[in-house]
Amino acid sequence: RELSVILAPFSGGQGKLGVEKGPKYLLKHGLQTSIEELGWSTELVPSMDEAQFVGKLKMERESANGGSSVVTSNVRAKRADLVGEATKLVYNSVSKVVQANRFPLTLGGDHSIAIGTVSAVLEKYPDAGVLWIDAHADINTIETTDSGNLHGCPVSFLMGLNKDIPNCPESLKWVPSNLSPKKIAYIGLRDIDLEEKKILKDLGIAAFSMYHVDKFGINAVIEMAMKAVHPDTNGEGPIMCSYDVDAVDPLYIPATGTPVRGGLTLREGLFLVERLAESGNLVALDIVECNPDLAIHDIHVSNTISAGCAIARCALGETLL
Ligand code: ARG
Ligand code: MN
Ligand code: MN
Ligand code: MN
Repeated sequence: RELSVILAPFSGGQGKLGVEKGPKYLLKHGLQTSIEELGWSTELVPSMDEAQFVGKLKMERESANGGSSVVTSNVRAKRADLVGEATKLVYNSVSKVVQANRFPLTLGGDHSIAIGTVSAVLEKYPDAGVLWIDAHADINTIETTDSGNLHGCPVSFLMGLNKDIPNCPESLKWVPSNLSPKKIAYIGLRDIDLEEKKILKDLGIAAFSMYHVDKFGINAVIEMAMKAVHPDTNGEGPIMCSYDVDAVDPLYIPATGTPVRGGLTLREGLFLVERLAESGNLVALDIVECNPDLAIHDIHVSNTISAGCAIARCALGETLL
């Protein structure tokens, strides 16, 4: 029961500053102590220099045309150089942690950092299934993205879907692309771009939207998701959870960059990870997209941060009784 809290204070995968403050706020709320109270021994791993990346982001903003954006056929993948650099640093940290048989809990930052976490976890556990808890599918390619924000694209990089696209950013060519479409299942979806829907369908990816949560209930959905990524063993086998807090309804988690109404209740969002803890199969967890700067009232900050901490604790063994 040894765990490393990996800090990934990166915000270049999207356009709003503040999401790099997620790790600091979660820690200030007592996250590390509460994890130790659950019986884990912990250490902090600062994967990158927060101030350095914020500095680079501000410089990019000032240079008129977004500076180093990569122009593809008709769209720009924004700040691909920074995303490549930051995700490689996250990858390096998570690799060391998993190779030492420690549990990686990675705190974002925006969801682009999962390019680093998932790549490293799959190298250690090649059979692992990934549960992507999110309002969004984050599977745009650099050709389909409308926003150009790479936090909407991590899954396409993890699957190698950008490899054959001309002008695929050099900075992301290090990504091992070791995620098979058969090894991911989504829960919480409700805001999918048209071209993402086509990718999900074409690749036969297991995707449970809020419709499925309403129709079957959260317990059935998590069982189906676990079976989807481990079909031969009735859902048993290593699982990584990449948890975008915007999966939970903004009523409960308002301080996030791309909120979408009609999401998971706080209890559904916590049940998911309680169930993963109970399964004994969870090998890694990301918690991303907490942006304290987007709160319009102080209560929004504490709601968001306390819910983020609760997600971590429930995933790591906290139970109600
Ligand atoms: N689909 C939209 C895009 O590609 C939104 C992505 C939101 N992603 C996230 N990690 N919050 O820009
Ligand atoms: Mn999202
Ligand atoms: Mn599009
Ligand atoms: Mn996401």
